[in-house]
Amino acid sequence: MKRTHNCGQLRASDVGSEVSLVGWIDSIRDHGGILFIDLRDREGLTQIKADPHSDDAAFNQSVNGLKDESVIAVAGQVVARDGENVNPSLPTGEVEVDVSQVVVHNIAETPPFPIDDVKGDRVHEDLRLKYRYLDLRRDKMRKAIKLRHETTRSIRSYLDDEGFYDVETPTLFKSTPEGAREYLVPSRIQSGHFYALPQSPQQFKQMLMVSGIERYYQIARCYRDEDLRADRQMEFTQLDMEISFIDREGMYSLVEGLMKRIWKDTLGVEIETPFPRMSFKEAMDRFGVDKPDTRFGIEISDFSETFASSSFKVFSSTVKNGGVVKALKAPGLANITQGELKNLEEVAKSLGAKGLAFIKIENGEWKSPIVKFFSEDEKAALQDSLNLEEGDIVFFAASQWEQACSILGRIRLECAELLKKRGELEIPLDQYEFLWVIDFPLMTYEEDQGRYVASHHPFTAPVPEDCEFLESDPKKVRGQHYDLVLNGVELGGGSIRIHQTQLQKKIFEDVLDIPKDVVQSRFGYMLEAFKYGAPPHGGIAFGLDRLVMILAGVSSIREVIAFPKTQKGQCLMTESPSPVSDKQLKELHIECLSLEDESD
Ligand code: AMO
Ligand code: AMP
Repeated sequence: MKRTHNCGQLRASDVGSEVSLVGWIDSIRDHGGILFIDLRDREGLTQIKADPHSDDAAFNQSVNGLKDESVIAVAGQVVARDGENVNPSLPTGEVEVDVSQVVVHNIAETPPFPIDDVKGDRVHEDLRLKYRYLDLRRDKMRKAIKLRHETTRSIRSYLDDEGFYDVETPTLFKSTPEGAREYLVPSRIQSGHFYALPQSPQQFKQMLMVSGIERYYQIARCYRDEDLRADRQMEFTQLDMEISFIDREGMYSLVEGLMKRIWKDTLGVEIETPFPRMSFKEAMDRFGVDKPDTRFGIEISDFSETFASSSFKVFSSTVKNGGVVKALKAPGLANITQGELKNLEEVAKSLGAKGLAFIKIENGEWKSPIVKFFSEDEKAALQDSLNLEEGDIVFFAASQWEQACSILGRIRLECAELLKKRGELEIPLDQYEFLWVIDFPLMTYEEDQGRYVASHHPFTAPVPEDCEFLESDPKKVRGQHYDLVLNGVELGGGSIRIHQTQLQKKIFEDVLDIPKDVVQSRFGYMLEAFKYGAPPHGGIAFGLDRLVMILAGVSSIREVIAFPKTQKGQCLMTESPSPVSDKQLKELHIECLSLEDESD
């Protein structure tokens, strides 16, 4: 029986035609001896009706044995539904198919959870992941998978128009530990040697620029052995790009055009370009994070000067020690509960805060454990610049600049959640606030390692006018690095690269303090490549999973990945990772210590 239509296709104009459909049984209802079946394929639902008391005994037997989620093919005539039976919420709701033939491909057992958007969402995620093939049958999941396909199609078409080549790069790469922890793959042929799975195609894409490819992109799988979160997987997908002869401005407009195209193609939404830009310093000062969610206010203010000689020693001594006093006003949140406040304190402490001082404005009074230490001038300064009103609460963080900003940055997000819960803050689902964050420091000093590390990666070019400070005061040097932020999510990041051997070598050896022999063994080929005519180049990579997550309006990238891993890094469907045999290990010259202990 050959399919003539899909299950989302039939309309009133098809009444009278003989058709055949295939699909899964979404539901069966028995109405006075006639069976009404919603037949589902990926395009939609069509109601079919079958009379199990017909003259055809075999037909009767087949339809009587049907169960939900069974796969069948049917043939019959399209008939109009009577007035009151029309279902206006279904595109095929004006018709049904009066079935005269049925082929049963497979009778399904009762699934472990209902294949239903609403009920399915209430099922524990572990169960959904174990039976992912059933979970993906749900409308919502199928739409997410389709949206992901439409997104990559839109990306490919834009980049093709812009003259990009799609080039694949190896996923068996070399270990170059910097940044996230890597996954290692043992070599069978070369005992004791390992490949590493790439954290990104960074070095290969730069080599492609040396090769003269000029415009490269790849929808590339990347691997990072990090702690997993809602927006982090151990294997994830990047839209990775690299371009020769481009500067930062060229990059911004290329990417803005790409985002414009994606939003138009997938959601039919026009987004405004150019995107605003903000320096890293301003982002930290105002929002306490390098990926600010600018869809709502509640900004951070600085009161270091006000409290520099305060009699409240917690604040004045912090300022004396080179730190800052920052404050965050959450309007209307003075009604915070004891439990919520305690929770905020825990959040602050997890980021290294010693405490989370606050002032509540309630019944015309300032209620606070610390306000008794404040002078009239200090209070007036707070009142004037924060414009405090009945019902407000102000939080304080006194610490070194970056830590104080980060603490209040997190508190800001927590306050937004509390205000949302109270119905006092509403963020429309279709609000898209893009932002370029720029002017990052090229390097940050790592106390534990006692050396500078690259803020982005060591291939990022310094801002030319800052180069003179490379050795004398590396903190001062900004990188030609840019991050694209959307609604508080870091969507992508990249930079203009170093393309001269001498400068790259200096960054590795003199600034980042990587020993010469290590530089040679990890990056020697790159330094050599730059000697043979490397063009100026730059690039960027976007988290494709995060991009689709925002397009789909969901809050976890697992909702837009066909087969994601759990927080513990497991695939519950295939049960990986799993033990392997001694023979396999022996071939790879590996002895597994803990495996035996565990099987005891
Ligand atoms: P970066 O490390 O910033 O840059 O990664 C680029 C983007 O990839 C996404 N991303 C992730 N998504 C899901 N799970 C993860 N574990 C994960 N880690 C990163 C983020 C991030 O913005 N080679 C450079 C890019 C360049 O310089 O061109 C790079 O990989 O959205
Ligand atoms: P203490 O004098 O340590 O009892 O602190 C008084 C108040 O200030 C308490 O509410 C603490 O939570 C808070 N506090 C202490 N240290 C800091 C800090 N570094 N930043 C912000 N608040 C603090």
